[in-house]
Amino acid sequence: MEGRLQIFSGNANRPLAQEIAAHLNINLGRAMVGTFKNGETRVKVEENVRGSDVFVVQSTCTPVNHNLMELLLLIDALRRASAARVTAVIPYYGYAKQEKKTTGREPISAKLVANLIRTAGADRVLTMDLHAPAIEGFFDIPVDHLQAGPILAEHIRDMGLLRVVVVSPDAGGVGRANSFRERIGAGLAIIAKQRPQPDVAEMLDMVGDVEGKTAVIVDDMISTGGTLAEAARALRERGAVAVYACATHGIFAGEATEIIARSVLVETIVTNTIPLPERCREARIRAISVAPLFAEAIIRIHKDLSLSALFS
Ligand code: R5P
Repeated sequence: MEGRLQIFSGNANRPLAQEIAAHLNINLGRAMVGTFKNGETRVKVEENVRGSDVFVVQSTCTPVNHNLMELLLLIDALRRASAARVTAVIPYYGYAKQEKKTTGREPISAKLVANLIRTAGADRVLTMDLHAPAIEGFFDIPVDHLQAGPILAEHIRDMGLLRVVVVSPDAGGVGRANSFRERIGAGLAIIAKQRPQPDVAEMLDMVGDVEGKTAVIVDDMISTGGTLAEAARALRERGAVAVYACATHGIFAGEATEIIARSVLVETIVTNTIPLPERCREARIRAISVAPLFAEAIIRIHKDLSLSALFS
């Protein structure tokens, strides 16, 4: 599209926004994103955006509500400053696990968040590995949905691990684990997990042979770390010689890094959709960058080019 390409960022993940901008050979747009003394979020765009094609990079990670508000106010400010188009670049989309009612009298929070982003004035969304792909349909504007699987799989392939079996830690992740397995040419195992209460993971059973193999657990996100730690323990009990983990979004809520540090996991690889927590080194957690992929997607959106090549 015509108009200057400009990138702005809130405070959720400025290093990623800066890396994306560097890949595009531009500077991050100048904006003040802070807080008033009364706790309200304060935003001021400090350069001209009239007629520009603007991308706002903001993961809605912890503190989720604060980061969401920064995103909404940035979009609103850019709209009112006459940007020609505003794309919300949300590498990690928070509230995605609340995408349906699991019992009566609950909200569908992921849908409400989609409505808020649209109402604020976003024309498009660029995101990565939504917890539930159906969330794409919660938006009545175009959504480009990137995947970290190819980058993570290439990383695992380059590690040269032997006799690998890819493991889905729950039934919902089988499709993701299967396409990861196809990319690296490995076997597949599936764990049946249940959640007796929110944020507690219990491993029930496993399908597939892991005896004498190197297990690589593939998941979309790591929140409390319970799923990974429990899955890794179950895999070692069934004879896996080493257990690694890969996930797109490293939320690492609460005691997650301690739980992972104490677990039998050899290494956990995440992407930088969310900034890495402190103490990740002790927990053997490493991040690989999705900035080049986001930069490529942004330039293609800006130039009205197809993004299909990025999904294969
Ligand atoms: C579940 O459906 C997800 O794919 C992850 O397995 C889950 O969110 C991980 O959560 P936690 O780290 O709290 O066990």
